[in-house]
Amino acid sequence: MKRIEILLTPGQLNDELTLKDKNIIVIDVLRATTTITISLANGAKEVIPTENIATAVRVAKGSKNSILCGERNGRVIDGFKLGNSPLEYTSEEIKDKALIFSTTNGTQAIMKSKFAKNCLLASFVNMSTVVDYVNALDEDFTIICSGKLNDFCLEDAVCAGMLLNKLSVGRNLELMDSEVAAMNLSNDLAMLMNVPSQEKVLRMLNISEHGRYLSQIGFEKDLEICSKIDSYPIIPLFRNGVIRLREQFEGDSDQRSKMKRVNIGIKREEKQKQSD
Ligand code: MLT
Repeated sequence: MKRIEILLTPGQLNDELTLKDKNIIVIDVLRATTTITISLANGAKEVIPTENIATAVRVAKGSKNSILCGERNGRVIDGFKLGNSPLEYTSEEIKDKALIFSTTNGTQAIMKSKFAKNCLLASFVNMSTVVDYVNALDEDFTIICSGKLNDFCLEDAVCAGMLLNKLSVGRNLELMDSEVAAMNLSNDLAMLMNVPSQEKVLRMLNISEHGRYLSQIGFEKDLEICSKIDSYPIIPLFRNGVIRLREQFEGDSDQRSKMKRVNIGIKREEKQKQSD
């Protein structure tokens, strides 16, 4: 039986070695994993997550063609070029650049996965592509919600629950309380509001604590971008200290040969048939 566990806060991890050799999905809907996904889709060469501002500055000094990016309290860090709004990451701004990134929660959660076997970044914008990837790999996974300062946050839990609901189709998964809670949160969202899915996610972001804060400081447009399910169907992978598109890593791991053998489209159809 496969296990897909959800950590509702990164605080549930005592030690990053707990994640050694595991398959990890990191979620930070508002906004790190959404913004990083969009930046790679818009042509950034790579994203280098860092644990703190001082490290980001040091890494940038040693990296050619790089930009310092990140936020504290939602706003651009003093002296950095870009903040954490997906709207800033246009191809004119970032094409072929290395983005040295430091955010309050998202990059911290990503860094905790540095010893993972595979670490992918997820949010609503690449939901179905992540589902396809996990289905194709067909191994155990741990989903980490970045949360807020080691605490629970609604949007990451709903996103994790939606992901797990989709992954549970045709699968007999072993579920613990965190998974049941996240799946129910995402199901409640589906049932409570009689509007299209897109609108439901946006409404949820609007009532979330961090969503309300971002709107207050002028980033309400970001919530709309972060709510768009499947608008960026790509997989950012964190490997050897850098985040790149899955395709960009091809050639440097046996992961590739495994993925090649699997026709993702066929797998998806099979799962769909089982659920019909
Ligand atoms: C984070 O990493 O804490 C966030 O992405 C914060 C934000 O910029 O909204």
